[in-house]
Amino acid sequence: MRKQIVAGNWKMNNDIKETKKLIKDIKKGIKKIKLKGTRVLVSPTFVNLTAAKDKVKGSKIEVVAQNMHQAKSGAFTGEISASMLKAIKVKSVILGHSERRTYFGETDAILKEKVNTALANKMEIIFCFGELLADRKNNNHFSIVESQLKNALFHLEASAWKKIVLAYEPVWAIGTGETATPVQAQEMHAFIRNLLVDKYGNDVAENTSILYGGSVKPANAKEIFANPDVDGGLIGGAALNATDFVALIQSF
Ligand code: PGA
Repeated sequence: MRKQIVAGNWKMNNDIKETKKLIKDIKKGIKKIKLKGTRVLVSPTFVNLTAAKDKVKGSKIEVVAQNMHQAKSGAFTGEISASMLKAIKVKSVILGHSERRTYFGETDAILKEKVNTALANKMEIIFCFGELLADRKNNNHFSIVESQLKNALFHLEASAWKKIVLAYEPVWAIGTGETATPVQAQEMHAFIRNLLVDKYGNDVAENTSILYGGSVKPANAKEIFANPDVDGGLIGGAALNATDFVALIQSF
């Protein structure tokens, strides 16, 4: 059975003090609620991963990285490798976020390499993808999403999908306050799950969590998460506030 997941993508926010404080507050918040099997992920920036790992001890919160380089090691100034993450026991990584694609030139081809490297290192991947506003306006959103998935993930064997979580994030909804309607989210998530059925069969499709991301907040989460093919959320802005984040975890 696929898992429900609420993942906080902290982006380039929170210094070490703020990281510890936010985790402390989330820990306190989730102690008071029933997690009902929901996975809770937080993704601080690289320099704070070790402190975050330390701080989540004794809780169900998992710490994930926001990115990773595709090469094993070498002359890639400013980059972080899979083995470096593994060495500090970070076992999951977000790949393909639209900000990485837009501002740092990450293409489907690069992401395919990153996916392969992460899997070779037995890491779990939270794979982000989604269309631009222009794609949706031109009615190209389904074909864009299909090509993003095919180009970076559909070379994988069915068995690799145990390590993949999908995060559909329409770019026009990220950080804009504009969310996909529950109908739009369900429609796209069902489309994605059908692609998995066609390519890999029911087993993979039914066991792969598909998260929605893009301006999810306590006020709209219930409606979005209630959709049969939405298995949780990748949360930016609202993940920076412990009260909101805990409310999102309770929104299933
Ligand atoms: P947002 O970001 O919730 O602030 O829109 C989502 C994301 O970028 O993952």
